[in-house]
Amino acid sequence: MSERQLPSARLRPVRADTAWHPASWRARPALQQPVYPDAAELEQVQAELRVLPPLVTSWEIHNLTQQLADAQEGRRFLLQGGDCAESFAECTPEVISNRLKVLLQMSVVLVHGMRLPVVRVGRFAGQYAKPRSADTETRDGVTLPVYRGDIVNQPQFDADARIPDPRRMIKAHARSAMTINFVRSLIDGGFADLHHPENWNLHWVGASPLADEYQLMIREIGDALRFMETLSGSQIHDMNRVDFYTSHEALLLPYEEALTRQVPRQHGWYNLGTHFPWIGMRTAARDGAHLEYFRGLRNPLGLKVGPSVTPDELRRVIDVLNPDNEPGRLTLIHRMGAGTIGTALPPLLDAVRRDGRRVLWIADPMHGNTESTANGYKTRRFDNIRSEVEQAFDLHAAAGTRLGGVHLELTGEDVTECLGGARDLTERDLERAYRSHVDPRLNYEQSLEIAMLIVRKQSQLSRAAQM
Ligand code: PEP
Ligand code: CO
Repeated sequence: MSERQLPSARLRPVRADTAWHPASWRARPALQQPVYPDAAELEQVQAELRVLPPLVTSWEIHNLTQQLADAQEGRRFLLQGGDCAESFAECTPEVISNRLKVLLQMSVVLVHGMRLPVVRVGRFAGQYAKPRSADTETRDGVTLPVYRGDIVNQPQFDADARIPDPRRMIKAHARSAMTINFVRSLIDGGFADLHHPENWNLHWVGASPLADEYQLMIREIGDALRFMETLSGSQIHDMNRVDFYTSHEALLLPYEEALTRQVPRQHGWYNLGTHFPWIGMRTAARDGAHLEYFRGLRNPLGLKVGPSVTPDELRRVIDVLNPDNEPGRLTLIHRMGAGTIGTALPPLLDAVRRDGRRVLWIADPMHGNTESTANGYKTRRFDNIRSEVEQAFDLHAAAGTRLGGVHLELTGEDVTECLGGARDLTERDLERAYRSHVDPRLNYEQSLEIAMLIVRKQSQLSRAAQM
C-alpha cells in the first residue's frame, strides 16, 4: 500500500518530534513478511479491511493499560495464555469455550492463592501469523514457501496451499470477530460467575490428579462467597463479571496497519484489532519495521526478550517504545530457557531497574524450552517450564524487581504435546494426541499445575521476605 491511500488530514504524529504514521514502517526492513504474488490484490484487501468495524475499543485499551500499570506495582498479576497459533478450522465453540475454561480455572487458582486480582489476556482473536526460522521448507527435494500461519497461507505441503493469499486476512479478521464475540457473550451471560464454577468443568477431564486440590479451592471460594452474602444480605453481583482482553503477535504488518485507526475525542492511533499487540523475538530489532510500527500506537505493548539481548540494546529499545516512561505502556516478556535464564536475565533486570524504567516484567517459560524428540515431535519438557518459572521468581526477588505475570501456550483440548506434568506424559504419549501445527502447548492439567506452582512459589517467597 502506498501512503497516498491514507486519509492525509488524519496523519498526525503522536509526538511532535517524530514523523510516525501507520505506514511509516514501510521505510524500514520488515522481517518475516510473506511475498504476495499480486500487489494490487493486497492493496484491495487492505482497502476492504480499513473500513470494516474494529474488534476492540479505545476505552477497553485504556482500561487494560491501567490494569497493566497496577500489575507493575504489584497490585495485580497478569495471566496471558492461549494457542501458539489459532487456526481457521479450530474457530469452533468447543475450542473457544474450552480455552476459556482453562484460563478461568487458572485465574481462580491464582486469585485464591495470591490474593491478587488477575488480569486475563488471551492469546486469541487474532493469533494467526507465525514467525518462522526459514522462508522455505524442503521435503523429498521439493521446496515450497514455509507455512506462516492461517492468515497467510495453509499448512499442507502443497504448492497451491503455500502461496500467500491476502484474502486470508479478511477471513482472519472475521474469525477474530467471531471469537471475540463468543467470548464476550459467554462472559456477559454469566459463564465466568463464581457462583457457578461447574460451568468451567471440561467433560473429558475425569479423575485428574489435580482435581481434589482444585475442588477444595472452589469449595473454599464458594463458602467465602456465601458467608459474605449472608453478612450483607444480598448477592455479590460483581462475581459474575470478569474482564477478558485479547492479544496477538502483531507480525503481519499490512494487516495491522489496516486496523490502525483514530477514534473521536482521543489523540493518536490505536490498533483496534487487539487490545495488546506484542513484538516477537525475531522481529524486535531497534531499526526494524516492527518497532517503527509499534512505537506510534496507543495500545499497551508487549516485547519478547530473548537470551541474546544485551542491557544496552534493551535500553535503546525501551527508549523507542516507551520514551515517556508511561506506566502500563510496556510489558517485557522474557523467554530465556531453563538453562539460560540464570545468566541472561539478571543483567537485564539490573539495567532496567537502575535506569528507573517503568516496565511490567512477565515470564514466558515456553519459547526458550522447545526441543525435538527422537520420534520427530517438537516438544517441551514440563520440568523445564516449571524450572524457568521458579527461577524467574527467584531472580526477580534477588534483583529487587517484580515478576508480574506469565505468558503461556496452552489449550483446553485433550492434547499430548508437552512431556511430563501430573500425568507424566512420555514420548510415546506424544503420538496419541499431538495436534499443534506449530509449537507444543500445555494441556489442561499441565496448565493448572503451572498456576498451582506459581502460587506455591510466590507464597514461599513472601514467607522468606517476612523472616
Ligand atoms: C510465540 O510467542 O509464539 C513466539 C514465536 O515467540 P518468540 O517470539 O518469543 O519466539
Ligand atoms: Co509459539
